[in-house]
Amino acid sequence: TIHPVLLCGGSGTRLWPLSRKALPKQFAPLIGNKSLLQLTLERLSALNRTITCVASEDHRFLVREAMENARTEGRQILEPMPRNTAAAMAAAALLAEPDDLLLFAPADHHIPDAALFAATVREGVDAALAGRIVTFGVAPSFPSTAYGYIEAAGPTGHGESRVVARFVEKPTASVAESLILHGGYCWNAGIFLVQARTLVAALRTHAPDILAACERAAAAVSVDGSFLRLDREAFEGCRGESIDYAVLEKHAGVAVVRFEGTWSDVGSWNAVALLHPADDAGNRLSGMASALRSRNTFVHAPHRPVVALGTEDLIIVDTPDAVLVAGAGCAEQVADVVRMLSLEG
Ligand code: GDD
Ligand code: MG
Repeated sequence: TIHPVLLCGGSGTRLWPLSRKALPKQFAPLIGNKSLLQLTLERLSALNRTITCVASEDHRFLVREAMENARTEGRQILEPMPRNTAAAMAAAALLAEPDDLLLFAPADHHIPDAALFAATVREGVDAALAGRIVTFGVAPSFPSTAYGYIEAAGPTGHGESRVVARFVEKPTASVAESLILHGGYCWNAGIFLVQARTLVAALRTHAPDILAACERAAAAVSVDGSFLRLDREAFEGCRGESIDYAVLEKHAGVAVVRFEGTWSDVGSWNAVALLHPADDAGNRLSGMASALRSRNTFVHAPHRPVVALGTEDLIIVDTPDAVLVAGAGCAEQVADVVRMLSLEG
């Protein structure tokens, strides 16, 4: 059995003003009326309807509601404060059975072909049971600095998986360009299939301090129905680092399976725009939006009519208490603006 574990702790500031501190992007209705978390739960329920979510204490009811809406069951591991993905995954692995096969997945990705996704995950099972950390690679389309890069070597001998020769997390722009030119690299989709004891052993080797803090936090866990609360004092003392830097860049036993379907980490408004069909002039509209004599304009208007007239290369996002109007080339800088204005995330 595969045990899905959803990482729901990100803040998604690049999707301001839809994504806020109280309602980060994975919980906000983004596609139709569904949140990315609900869509992810539905996609993973093809593998197992019992799912563990790791999330902030503050979002426990949002997580439970999404699990109910997606008709999944399971438990919620609650973090008193964020300590990044190495700690979140360590806690989940320590609270699982050592032999459990865990599928760690981000709560905020868009992968429309659920059947192909499930089949691809199953390709990784034998390599994971043989003690590898299995990653999933997608074809890179440009030299992004927001992703991990995976260089695949020869076959592992297990299914379609290959040995990972090198893992480079979030390279600089010039390194990203050289990796793309070099060829043979794919992007890390941020999804990992691994046995609990394999991950714990890898953490013991590469990040023993993170593992030790999480061992204390998990040993003193308090159980409240489906909520599992990690011990505040122990978890607070944990170093915050992503699993990519803490383990994947350093570990020898990593494998990769290619995912050939459509994948988006919905990281910016440009990525959200691409989830909506374009009209002849390249406009993409959602909700009550309309566009006239406009070109390449994206309008997100779930609550009231919003009209773009004679606009070009614009992103317009309407929410009840804040509006974003941005040049299409500035989607990545939305997070900086949020930080600069010290508005709520
Ligand atoms: N529970 C919990 N706690 N979840 C967290 C935390 C935390 O402290 N921090 C992040 N997450 C969740 C996010 O919500 C997201 O679903 C997932 O973990 C990955 O975190 P991101 O912060 O979105 O990572 P990233 O996008 O910068 O990079 C990762 O994903 C890329 C693909 O989207 C890396 O794995 C890259 O190598 C990869 O290419
Ligand atoms: Mg991400």
